[in-house]
Amino acid sequence: VTLQQTESLLRSTQNELVQAGKLAMLGQMAAGVTHELNQPLAAIRAFADNAVQFMRRGQLPQVEENLEHISGASAHMGKIIAQLKGFARKSGDAIAVVDVAQTVEAAVLLLRNELHQQGVAIEIDVRSPVQVMGDVVRTEQVLINLLRNAIDAVETVEYVADKRVTVIVEHDAGEAVIRIRDSGPGIPDEVAPHLFEPFFTTKPSGKGLGLGLAISSSIVQAMNGRLSAHNLPEGGAEFTVRLPAPAPGL
Ligand SMILES: Nc1ncnc2c1ncn2[C@@H]1O[C@H](COP(=O)(O)OP(=O)(O)OP(=O)(O)O)[C@@H](O)[C@H]1O
Ligand SMILES: [Mg+2]
Repeated sequence: VTLQQTESLLRSTQNELVQAGKLAMLGQMAAGVTHELNQPLAAIRAFADNAVQFMRRGQLPQVEENLEHISGASAHMGKIIAQLKGFARKSGDAIAVVDVAQTVEAAVLLLRNELHQQGVAIEIDVRSPVQVMGDVVRTEQVLINLLRNAIDAVETVEYVADKRVTVIVEHDAGEAVIRIRDSGPGIPDEVAPHLFEPFFTTKPSGKGLGLGLAISSSIVQAMNGRLSAHNLPEGGAEFTVRLPAPAPGL
């Protein structure tokens, strides 16, 4: 073989690898986007069902409120889909000031139906108002995944009165800290090393894909933050999101 032939073979192999890499990337993104659309979609369905009920009872202000929630959740879904469209352009992310407490409220709203159905009490404790720089929708996605896991974790708790999820928002050493605590069984020792691995799940098929924490940790890392987990002395798990935030309220 001549040098020329070798060079051309190398070049075409390189091209194929680049194409294969792009396809693999697209596959990952598609799995991720599909995963992230589930929760807002379920929320839209619940808001729509509620709107119908309120309509039947002639409670128009509640109908209006639920329609507004549908509109908000659809906009949220649109932005998640836009992430897939723009996946080639990494820099296309919308960077803005994100109010952490507001984002927590928005995430909780999309899980309202699950919380209600399971009888889970949620407490939001904003110890210090704090803002971070980032993408509102992505920050919301992280919180939805963590809250969803917390709700799933308390499912096995025997007494409804003991099903609790607590969100704490505070400012600590230049960071916004969001703690999501649950009163579930905690993270088993054998699960802890695999928490953030894609497709690692202990949930029955159809219930969990094992993508929530993998997606969340990559979003948090892209925002120069950290996502970690530990068990609480009183039982249950705590997931902690740390994001750079220069000063309280800034
Ligand atoms: N709050 C928690 N308490 C106890 N275990 C948890 C908690 N959150 C996550 N885990 C464990 O980590 C695993 C991985 O979580 P992850 O969110 O990545 O996937 P999943 O919830 O199983 O599925 P998906 O998020 O794709 O619906 C879970 O299956 C569960 O075993
Ligand atoms: Mg999950």
